[in-house]
Amino acid sequence: MNSVQTRKIEPIKKKIFKKENYSGIENYYKKHGFCVVRRLYDNKKIKEVEKIFLKCQKIFQKYKDTDNQSFLIACDKIFEKTDLYDYIFKNKNLIKLLKIFYGNDIIHFNFTKFQLNEKKNSSQKKSLDEIKFQLSKGIHNDHWTGSSEYTTHYWLGFSGIDKGNTLTMYPGSHLNGSFPVLNREPDPKIEFKYKPHKLDYLKEGDVVLFHSLLLHKTTGKTNKTRVGIISKFSSLNYKWTNQEKDLGYQPLSIGPIREIIRLIGNDALTPFRTYGGVAGIDRSIYENYNERQLDKSTNKILNILKKNI
Ligand SMILES: [Fe+2]
Repeated sequence: MNSVQTRKIEPIKKKIFKKENYSGIENYYKKHGFCVVRRLYDNKKIKEVEKIFLKCQKIFQKYKDTDNQSFLIACDKIFEKTDLYDYIFKNKNLIKLLKIFYGNDIIHFNFTKFQLNEKKNSSQKKSLDEIKFQLSKGIHNDHWTGSSEYTTHYWLGFSGIDKGNTLTMYPGSHLNGSFPVLNREPDPKIEFKYKPHKLDYLKEGDVVLFHSLLLHKTTGKTNKTRVGIISKFSSLNYKWTNQEKDLGYQPLSIGPIREIIRLIGNDALTPFRTYGGVAGIDRSIYENYNERQLDKSTNKILNILKKNI
């Protein structure tokens, strides 16, 4: 094992940032590589997410020959098509929070996943699924598995959260680059000096944002099955990995500099396209573009159509 002289890495104290009071969040995130945010979402909506999931789970339990991973992917496909998905990921509070980290040009990668940490003493078959699909994760960072160093990871816990079944972070580990990996685990040849910080103070509805280079793991198991949703965000102006390009993205917010190009109409800046007229953006692009707000009349018709189809 390679051992190096380092200053002592001190454990950190718990800190919860509440909606509308993000004072100090930038420095906290820079130093520790993560932050916990409370009350970003309405509690009722979090309960609705749980309800959809539990409903899907009830149906799934009747089909014993289907593996857990297939179920979680299928569940996400259902969730993606609901209004709740938009509530969670195009949420004004979330966009406001992400603007602190990225400015105005924010993207949401087309990647969401339900994540399950099963309770103790689950069936043998499920335990095998967990090993095969790494549902319960040991120490890792998400840079190892295709995220750019500019990507922010997102975790929302919405059901079964318990002191001992959430996440453990290794604060500051992102500041040393990507930890050497050997067979999906930290290389044992390097002495591991980071101190674990258990997020044993999380509540349902809390969001954890963390840097892609930050080492973290599943804390452990309790008598409750914990369910969460993971996803990731970045900026239109930073580097993405090939995997992230393949996933694609939705813009969540567009700043004035990009908006000017949209108003001109094209990247070639064709002179005088709207000379003497109004510089504007095609309405369907506009309504689906900046913070993705549909016009009142579009929303009204959309709701009528949804009810009647
Ligand atoms: Fe992870």
